Amino acid sequence: MAEKLIALIPGDGIGPEVTREARRLLEWYQGQGLPLTLWDLDLGAERYLKDGTTFPKEVSDKIRAECSAVFLGALGDPRVPDMSHARDILFGLRFGFDLYANIRPVRALSDRLVPLKGRTRADVDFVVFRENTEGVYVGVGGQVRRGTPHEIAINEDINTRFGVERIIVAAFEHAKQHGKKRVHMADKSNAMRHAHELWLRVFDEVGQRYPGIERQHVYVDALCLYLLQDPSQFEVVVTNNLFGDIVTDLGAGLQGGLGMACSANVHPADPTRLGLFEPVHGSAPPLAGKNVANPFASLLTVGALLSHLGYPEHERHIERAITEAVDSGQVTRDLGGDLTTTQAADWVIERIKTA
Ligand SMILES: NC(=O)c1ccc[n+]([C@@H]2O[C@H](COP(=O)([O-])OP(=O)(O)OC[C@H]3O[C@@H](n4cnc5c(N)ncnc54)[C@H](O)[C@@H]3O)[C@@H](O)[C@H]2O)c1
Repeated sequence: MAEKLIALIPGDGIGPEVTREARRLLEWYQGQGLPLTLWDLDLGAERYLKDGTTFPKEVSDKIRAECSAVFLGALGDPRVPDMSHARDILFGLRFGFDLYANIRPVRALSDRLVPLKGRTRADVDFVVFRENTEGVYVGVGGQVRRGTPHEIAINEDINTRFGVERIIVAAFEHAKQHGKKRVHMADKSNAMRHAHELWLRVFDEVGQRYPGIERQHVYVDALCLYLLQDPSQFEVVVTNNLFGDIVTDLGAGLQGGLGMACSANVHPADPTRLGLFEPVHGSAPPLAGKNVANPFASLLTVGALLSHLGYPEHERHIERAITEAVDSGQVTRDLGGDLTTTQAADWVIERIKTA
């Protein structure tokens, strides 16, 4: 079996703590014979503050030439308020490698995690396909007369036919491959007539190529309401970069919080291309350095990464062990327990070893 190189970028805040646990899990799989090589990258706020390095070209070139996947802990440090290092690293990976699909499963692994009255884990099981290379996040815009009362600040919302179509195709293909019956597309076409009319039209056109799959259009504000009222109606949701970012934090709330949400950034048109895997959460500065952050999002992210590399059975094992940890209260304080980051990860890794 060919060796797979995985770059690890712990990043900032709680990033290094949750990446440490992800690394331990990956090391265990290495010990079990999985052909994985781990490559630790010293990138993030600390490095940036030390020598100005953000995302060097030689690192990007080596990732492109040799890596099968990148694991990223989290980025964001109050000492770098303009987030310049984070943008270079995160967008350097997402945009630079054209990882146009940010796939975020919203799945409650245990009834105990579902905050809605009368709802169980069976009601929270959908996936969000967030467009990852366009929208307002591309940074087109500028400021004029900065700092004056007449200041103008513009962020353009970029939507191309090509970009919209490929993420919608990815969502329908996922539905087809996973036996899902319904795809929702969330936009704001009632207010954003130009850009989101494009989404509406392309959704309709692409959807017609998938006759067995029902297509539902929903305004994103209504989607937020329906997610709380009845999340069980959703199977696959496709949306733009900004709305996907926001809606998946709401989704994280349905699955037990940001400590439970993982994500994959991939290029579905070429599944052999490298993927970027990261917990949905940020660097949570108030928790950093205290060994209290929930490591489960990070361990679930390892599962998504291994699945991408061709080991879906390991993803299932990881999910099962985490479900057992939650059901038996072996959790960090965000989930009502009293374990440290290390103890919660230990419990899950031991469970996987003995399964
Ligand atoms: N992809 C990324 O790296 C990413 C994503 C989101 C935010 N950020 C950055 O992270 C920094 C903090 O942002 P924020 O506070 O809005 O978002 P955050 O995700 O860091 O935290 C939001 C809330 O969730 C909690 N939380 C997050 N992860 C947790 C975990 N593993 N265990 C327990 N609780 C957890 C935090 O304590 C906080 O209450 C900012 O600089 C932001 O830009 C980075």
